[in-house]
Amino acid sequence: HHTEILREDKLLQICHLLLDNIDYYDWVGFYFANHEEKTLHLGPYAGEPTDHTVIPFGKGICGQVAVSNENFVVPDVKAQDNYIACSFTVKSEIVVPLFVDGKNIGQIDIDSNIIDAFTEADERFLEFVNEEIAKLF
Ligand code: SME
Repeated sequence: HHTEILREDKLLQICHLLLDNIDYYDWVGFYFANHEEKTLHLGPYAGEPTDHTVIPFGKGICGQVAVSNENFVVPDVKAQDNYIACSFTVKSEIVVPLFVDGKNIGQIDIDSNIIDAFTEADERFLEFVNEEIAKLF
């Protein structure tokens, strides 16, 4: 569908914009929820390809956010036991849910190669980004 292709293209541009302009953002991508299957599916992303294109609800940081509907900031990925490693260079991660009409339809996921990279300023910024993205749906 035409509008879906435009939206995917905009999301991909946002991924690249964030990756290219924020030095501690080293992977930026979107996952979208299939609420019937209880799985997350990789959408547009910028950075290294990941094997984790489908993530069950509850699994990893992303899967936990699909269930909790809350931001998840991970200062040190090594300290997490429910974590899916995509790259050995990643040290910290932030996942912020994407709400459309109050429903958690997916999330933005950002990895950093720097430990404890993400602050409350990133949370507020990415909440704003997601609120803008929600208008595309
Ligand atoms: N680390 C995530 C998996 C996605 S990759 O970072 C791209 C997690 O634990 O859910």
